[in-house]
Amino acid sequence: MRSVFWENNQLKMIDQRILPARFEIVSFTKHQQVAEAIKNMTVRGAPAIGAAAAFGLALAGYESASSSSRELVADLQAASLTLKSARPTAVNLAWAVDRVMGAVTVSSQERSADELRQLVLDEAQKIADEDVEINKRMAEHGATLINDGDTIIHHCNTGALATVDWGTALGVIRTAHKQGKKIHVLVDETRPRLQGARLTAWELEQYGISYEIISDNMSGHFLKSGKVQKCFVGSDRTTANGDVANKIGTYMLALAAFDNGVPFYPVVPTSTIDLSLASGDLIPIEERNPNEVLDIQFQGEPVTPKNAKARNPAFDVTPNRLVTAIVTENGIAYPPFEISLKKVVK
Ligand code: MRU
Repeated sequence: MRSVFWENNQLKMIDQRILPARFEIVSFTKHQQVAEAIKNMTVRGAPAIGAAAAFGLALAGYESASSSSRELVADLQAASLTLKSARPTAVNLAWAVDRVMGAVTVSSQERSADELRQLVLDEAQKIADEDVEINKRMAEHGATLINDGDTIIHHCNTGALATVDWGTALGVIRTAHKQGKKIHVLVDETRPRLQGARLTAWELEQYGISYEIISDNMSGHFLKSGKVQKCFVGSDRTTANGDVANKIGTYMLALAAFDNGVPFYPVVPTSTIDLSLASGDLIPIEERNPNEVLDIQFQGEPVTPKNAKARNPAFDVTPNRLVTAIVTENGIAYPPFEISLKKVVK
């Protein structure tokens, strides 16, 4: 099953907030609800939120009562602003919305409002279908970097849930496993939302891939032990120079990997590469509600004092000097990334 899909004129998603305790599908009929689902992380992961937003535009098309193409385009434009502002860091969100709006703009003159509504849905469906195909292609390239017997540290969730299906970094691990390579994954928890412990572990269970959960602060220890051969992560935005924004904690993992000579591989579809930004300092970093950090329990009791304050940046930027190579659907990019990323994008 796909994490995001269109069925019976509704957008449906696996609710990622409650996994692995419960597996539930939620349905949406309004684009504002989709924007809210992206914000509250019912759907999450850069490619998945891109596809969700594209389908959100399709809902906006059906919500609009306009019978003229011009008015419909104005309604779609308003909806695209709402959807794009749901989360700032993952460039796939703006990329997908702009792609759909680009298709609308090109043909708005010669099509009726109903034809445009259908075009928006078709383009969203294409984005979703291509995502699966791209992930599988990317995984074939990435799997060439994995040897039989490797132990791999993986951060956050980059699997079928974070994409439309298959996954980015976890997709590479799945493909290598399918090729018969014996792999062990150290799944870091990924505080504060625990995408690793909750979602990656849940996916690996189903694929029959060997794994153990570690807390985030154990990565350095395992990397130093000599028993980890590689790190694979995803990205929410990778800039022209190869700086990689990804889930908070990625930078610390990359530093520890670099210090111990362990290769560090972001797996990044070209829709996540933002050549318009020269370096990672320019990437907007989402700051989420501090309660996500504070709201934890130990032995049934709250961990933090009642009035504790917290910070909660959701992403960090790993500088390109710590990145061994970047896996894309068009091949593996090696330093200097200023040159190799341009090539894979073209
Ligand atoms: O805050 P999230 O859970 O949406 O963050 C997800 C990640 O950081 C992933 O690593 C990233 O989206 C790329 S993997 C598809």
